[in-house]
Amino acid sequence: MKSASNKELPDPEFNHMGVPLPKLVFATNNQHKIDEAQAIVQGKLQLISLKEAGVEIEVDETETTFRGNAFLKAQAVWEITGLPCVADDSGLCVNALGGEPGVFSSRYAGEAGNHAKNNEKLLSELLGKADRSAYFTTVLCIVGMENTPIYIEGRVNGVILTQMQGKDGFGYDPLFCPEGENRSFAEMLASEKNAMSHRGRAFQSLMDYLR
Ligand code: IMP
Repeated sequence: MKSASNKELPDPEFNHMGVPLPKLVFATNNQHKIDEAQAIVQGKLQLISLKEAGVEIEVDETETTFRGNAFLKAQAVWEITGLPCVADDSGLCVNALGGEPGVFSSRYAGEAGNHAKNNEKLLSELLGKADRSAYFTTVLCIVGMENTPIYIEGRVNGVILTQMQGKDGFGYDPLFCPEGENRSFAEMLASEKNAMSHRGRAFQSLMDYLR
């Protein structure tokens, strides 16, 4: 059996005691997300990317809920690999906008993944609104581990700033200031964001569940 001993870098397949880590395929093609999630679960859980699992698939997010979309992705990859899979669906929900952009966060301004346009639209929709409270949510769906899908949510509350702050991160990070902070997510180190973000909390809860 392979062991984690005598290695300078941590072996992603074993914990520090040489015990094999639980293994899940992470059903996403987004490398930024894979890097972020792998940093969060390091030493506790082995997340295999689609590329590493040899799977080429792009699943359309056709559902109207975070749970629905996360399930679609995890189920599709589980059907191909036969391995336990986790998928996530995340978004920003703004209270004064009735929860928008929500599941449409990526394509809020029309074109998927156009973060600059999305942020511009968000700022203009909130002009003159007193309530700027919002939250990020991540719903994880795990398929292939139990008889039914498992759902786990992570959330972080905060406010939408009146102008972009910071250059790091992605998406709405420059406009989102988490509760108890005076910096946006885009002004934080990745490790600081991961410790309090919706995705960080969801993966933390997933590790608690697996334990
Ligand atoms: P996904 O489901 O994780 O791909 O997220 C959908 C969209 O929500 C992204 O394209 C972003 O616009 C937004 N989003 C999700 N997570 C974050 C985050 O951590 N920071 C900023 N924007 C995010």
